[in-house]
Amino acid sequence: MLDELEKLYTQSLETLGSAQETAVLEEWYRDTLGKKGKIYLMTRQVGQLSKEERPIFGKRINVIKTELQEAYDGRLGELKSAELETEIASSAIDVTLPGRPVTAGGLHVVTQTLREIYRIFGDMGFQIYRSPDVETDAYNFELLNFPPHHPAREMQDSFYTEKSDVILRTHTSAGQIRAMREYHPEPIRVILPGMCYRNEQITTRSSIQFTQVEGLAVGENITFADLKGTLTEFAKRLFGADRKTRFRASYFPFTEPSAEMDVTCFLCDGKGCQICKYTGWLEILGSGMVHPNVLRNGGYDPEKYTGFAFGMGPERITMLKYGIDDLRLFWRNDLRFLQQF
Ligand code: DAH
Repeated sequence: MLDELEKLYTQSLETLGSAQETAVLEEWYRDTLGKKGKIYLMTRQVGQLSKEERPIFGKRINVIKTELQEAYDGRLGELKSAELETEIASSAIDVTLPGRPVTAGGLHVVTQTLREIYRIFGDMGFQIYRSPDVETDAYNFELLNFPPHHPAREMQDSFYTEKSDVILRTHTSAGQIRAMREYHPEPIRVILPGMCYRNEQITTRSSIQFTQVEGLAVGENITFADLKGTLTEFAKRLFGADRKTRFRASYFPFTEPSAEMDVTCFLCDGKGCQICKYTGWLEILGSGMVHPNVLRNGGYDPEKYTGFAFGMGPERITMLKYGIDDLRLFWRNDLRFLQQF
């Protein structure tokens, strides 16, 4: 029986050594060292041995048990780490793969124009004054000298709310009254940028919103010469030092006198082209001396104070600058358009 035991021992070691998977090892364990395994079955046969043989056999079988257990543990460790290695190798991260580029966003082209305008007026001492998009009829029209049925309201088809006197501002001029009421009787030099809302159905180019930059200067001894000087200097800084300006008489209820400013076309330099419709001039903004009624509504005595105001559309300026022919492109979020700027 001892011979049989030794044979079992060497055979078991051999199969253990040749096992290549942990699953095979586990099977081996059940067969050999398990509760009903071969070693156990051998111990059960001890009774068949003589008294002298029993202790020798018993000792030997114990030694073999421990050795097989150790051999099993060792082999299991080897196979486990080998299996882990192959798993790591097969699912490894390929560090040589190029990374995904982080795309940097950019400023919307109209925002770029706005910031350019802020910078120029900032250099000339104008502060930015913010006023609300949702306005009352009073601020948007009446206090700016548009009486309730004045025909000038026709040009600004408004968005009304459920409250009869609350509207979306149709122009940034509404903020003029707010700035004056806040600062009077101190002198004022502000620009008022922001979104304006009008229902416009010009052929297919319907639009409902656009930005404006309003300007307001109020103080003593401010004249039309200050208006012309400031706006001409602005045009040169924005469009180039050799731009010329001209002022054409116009009408706005809140200014008197009123004027529109043109600059010589920066594409053809005044010679005439498609952009300036062969006139050589581009209309850039509306302006005028603040009407005495408006000064009074803002808290200033028109006998003592005067002022000038102006308003421009950054979208229009951007369209002229880049030859963009459709206002709706600014709102479409088409990257092919936006990435050009
Ligand atoms: N509010 C006018 C508009 O939306 C633009 C404007 C014209 C503003 C003349 C002014 C100004 O301040 O003096 O059409």
